Amino acid sequence: MSSTPGNLNNATGKIVGVGRALGGLVVTNHDLEKALDTNDAWIVERTGIKERRFAAEDEDCATLAIDASKEALAHAGLEGEAVDLILCATSTAPESMPSVACLVGEAIGAVGVGALDVTAACAGYSYAANVASSMLKSGAGRRVLLIGADAMTKIVDQKDRSTAVLFSDAAGAVILEHGSGESGFVDHILGADGRGAPLLRAGHPGAHEKLYQNGREVFKFAARVFPEMVEKLLARNGVKPEKVQYIIPHQANTRIIQAAVRRMEIPEEKIVVNMDRFGNTSAASIPISYPDIFDDFEPGKYVVTVGFGGGLTWAANLYRI
Ligand code: ACO
Repeated sequence: MSSTPGNLNNATGKIVGVGRALGGLVVTNHDLEKALDTNDAWIVERTGIKERRFAAEDEDCATLAIDASKEALAHAGLEGEAVDLILCATSTAPESMPSVACLVGEAIGAVGVGALDVTAACAGYSYAANVASSMLKSGAGRRVLLIGADAMTKIVDQKDRSTAVLFSDAAGAVILEHGSGESGFVDHILGADGRGAPLLRAGHPGAHEKLYQNGREVFKFAARVFPEMVEKLLARNGVKPEKVQYIIPHQANTRIIQAAVRRMEIPEEKIVVNMDRFGNTSAASIPISYPDIFDDFEPGKYVVTVGFGGGLTWAANLYRI
């Protein structure tokens, strides 16, 4: 899985357009206080979340994915027919079939191209980014629409304070091009351990059984794998921490980030955080970060994206700007 450090021809999947769509309802901690035995101080102190986005009645994972994809295409100055492959990371597709990727293809006018969903919970975007860059490298196409989308409120029990305060609905999309090899994904890590399956599980949207999480155990797992993956990716590619412009972790808890920062030689300012505004949007949490930072990308520097979640799954990507 490793790649040759310093080889300018090995980066695949240059990001040429970014977009996002957030659930239409803004729900603050104070709003939740009215319905749950919780309070703003506990939520902010234990998670870092101040407000989150719930899908409006006419929104779901697929509508959010479509809106984010249209925004990414417009940002790239492209029409849907320019896309050769659609990949959507999600665990909350409205139905088992069709896939969200197929619904996106129809909505953007990319008909007849490959389209599939990738399911790896909150690590889904990092998993799908690996698949996307490998497909580009294999010559399967020149342009991939890569989406991370989840409507977590559809699988969370809104009466369970231990999870209702955390999760949120959004989609982020990027357009990846084969490019010249200077900019793109350089290396990836994928991992899973099904022995941890009981720690975090949920049914489909509409299922009676809602999301269960053993928060403390998942916290310990996340605080361990996040810095481990960053250190491994940088070390095996010979990238010095000062060459890293941003680290975009899955947005689960600011305390996970603080624990990781204490272990890594990377200043906290380089870590992108948006969970205070958007909550935990699962597979969307990494790609919804791009619109806030994309214009500041410095060519030659690196972005590390790091996902971890149910499965248990974990994955990370090293991207050269
Ligand atoms: N408001 C007030 N009190 C609460 C709330 C709430 N919303 N939720 C729980 N509590 C209480 C508990 O009942 C418990 O009370 P007790 O001590 O009297 O029993 C106390 O607060 C502490 O509960 P913990 O669950 O131990 O709280 P913790 O500090 O661990 O925080 C949290 C919980 C935020 C879930 C944390 O464990 C966490 O972030 N875990 C990791 C989440 C993660 O990374 N998930 C992976 C990705 S998600 C995916 O893949 C879909």
